[in-house]
Amino acid sequence: MPKRFNNKIVLITGGSSGIGHATALAFAQEVAKVVVADVVDNRDKETVKTIKDKSREVAFIKTDISKPTDVENMVKTTVETYGRIDILFNNAGIAGFPVRLAELSVKDWDRVIDINLKGVFLGSKYTIPVMLEQGKGVIINNASSSGITPIPRVSVYAAAKAGVIQLTKAMAIEYGGDNIRVNCICPGFIETPMTSIIIPPDSESRDYSHLWPLTKPGNPEDIAKAALYLASDDSSFVTGTSLVVDGGWLAGTRLPLPRGS
Ligand SMILES: NC(=O)c1ccc[n+]([C@@H]2O[C@H](COP(=O)([O-])OP(=O)(O)OC[C@H]3O[C@@H](n4cnc5c(N)ncnc54)[C@H](O)[C@@H]3O)[C@@H](O)[C@H]2O)c1
Repeated sequence: MPKRFNNKIVLITGGSSGIGHATALAFAQEVAKVVVADVVDNRDKETVKTIKDKSREVAFIKTDISKPTDVENMVKTTVETYGRIDILFNNAGIAGFPVRLAELSVKDWDRVIDINLKGVFLGSKYTIPVMLEQGKGVIINNASSSGITPIPRVSVYAAAKAGVIQLTKAMAIEYGGDNIRVNCICPGFIETPMTSIIIPPDSESRDYSHLWPLTKPGNPEDIAKAALYLASDDSSFVTGTSLVVDGGWLAGTRLPLPRGS
């Protein structure tokens, strides 16, 4: 097992669940020191406990990513504890509200934008000065395939994630000369607590065979592997990109022709 992240300091927002949880474990497996920041701290015990049980170093900072004072504290505490931030994974997010645009309340619009888009801005805003001081750093944002091609009833989620993709490019061109790489991941449908709310795992409508070429849902580890690639020196010439990890969903619509025709 390669140890690409030996003693690297990795800050992961939304690390208590789903993709953030799997990514925290994957970094810990490669001997990174992981800081989990999440608004929820009860589920975090699972992430932190699992990492501690493997005798790896981990810390937790309760953080609402939409609140500037919380995010400032998240960065300050990480630097006080470990002295630096090598990798920031802006991962925290919420699913949004499954209604058509006119039925979406202004409050719900603001909530999704505040967490899914402003949260990425805040995480980056307070971390970048630390990375500038260090002379290097890597930022990975968790966007979505919906930020490229929306599905129905996700208008604000899609708009926020499209914003994350553009923010990624803007940060990449602004800070490339400072040795800070910024990329995003666009997951397709990944089985996590977030998607379980939308389609329960035992639901009959959970037949993916017609939806995307690889005919199965992704799992959080699929996204963790993409995050580790973008965080590692394997991607040292990669910045400003959106890595789509979606089982081929965005490759195109498949005509329902009979097999063999
Ligand atoms: N699961 C998918 O199919 C999928 C697809 C595309 C993109 N994504 C994105 O991946 C990211 C992780 O999603 P997931 O599927 O693992 O969901 P999840 O619900 O399992 O995990 C999200 C985590 O973010 C935390 N969080 C929510 N609001 C927060 C806030 N204000 N401050 C700090 N933490 C907060 C939650 O407590 C939770 O631990 C999200 O940004 C999501 O939009 C997920």
